[in-house]
Amino acid sequence: MKRPVFILIFCLLNGLSLTAQDFYFVQITDTHLEYRNHTKVTNEIVESINNLPFDIGFVVHTGDVFQDNLHDQAAVNDFYKMKKSLNPPLYVLPGNHDLLPKDYVNLVTKYQNEIGPLNQIKYYDSVYLVLFYSIPFADTLLPDVETQKQWIEHSLSRLKDEQVLLFHHQPSVPDFYLNKVHEVWPKVMRKYWSDLLNKNQVEAVITGHFHRDEHHYLGDVPLFVSPSIAGFWGRQASYRVYHYQEGKLTYQTVYYNE
Ligand SMILES: [Fe+2]
Ligand SMILES: [Fe+2]
Repeated sequence: MKRPVFILIFCLLNGLSLTAQDFYFVQITDTHLEYRNHTKVTNEIVESINNLPFDIGFVVHTGDVFQDNLHDQAAVNDFYKMKKSLNPPLYVLPGNHDLLPKDYVNLVTKYQNEIGPLNQIKYYDSVYLVLFYSIPFADTLLPDVETQKQWIEHSLSRLKDEQVLLFHHQPSVPDFYLNKVHEVWPKVMRKYWSDLLNKNQVEAVITGHFHRDEHHYLGDVPLFVSPSIAGFWGRQASYRVYHYQEGKLTYQTVYYNE
């Protein structure tokens, strides 16, 4: 039994009152900074987030912060400006355009020194936020599959009785575009991932990468895919406001008007 249900029953049996979980957070994704007009749009979206009529607890950036340009100090400075300008705290995880197979070791070191850890766990209003670097599960050219497996298995097992929202970059479902289904995650990894999420009763998975609005289920676990800030393929820049109430997650997508 998940801990909030246990606490609720305990409080009801003992006549105690319980404050309902009810909070908002924002997801931004795929900023691809210092490319086209993405830095300008990102700065304006930061202002939009700061002016939302909701009390935003935190912002999660689900990766592709950069456009293959983590070595470019101007792009890193854009990231610092975004982080400093946002009123809520910003949590970030890496995407496939942040850590590239070419020069991987140096990029990982730079990311960890200047942007943040590859994986991290945050806590907000009795909910654990697991931010996970999942790209090695999809890209077999990357070396860290076993390390990443160990980290996520250990973390989810430790949080098995807690409420967990899991954030990562590249959805595990096939990528559908140009009227074709593109299998990206190896099938064996897709099954591993779905089994792991369901075994540990993760409440929801939240990703970016597709630069499209999608919703799926991995077994019983809902998968939310947010559209991007970057305007590739004629997409309108957008971000999401999520509302979490007693284990239920809903969202609104906010569209940017230049
Ligand atoms: Fe992207
Ligand atoms: Fe991506």
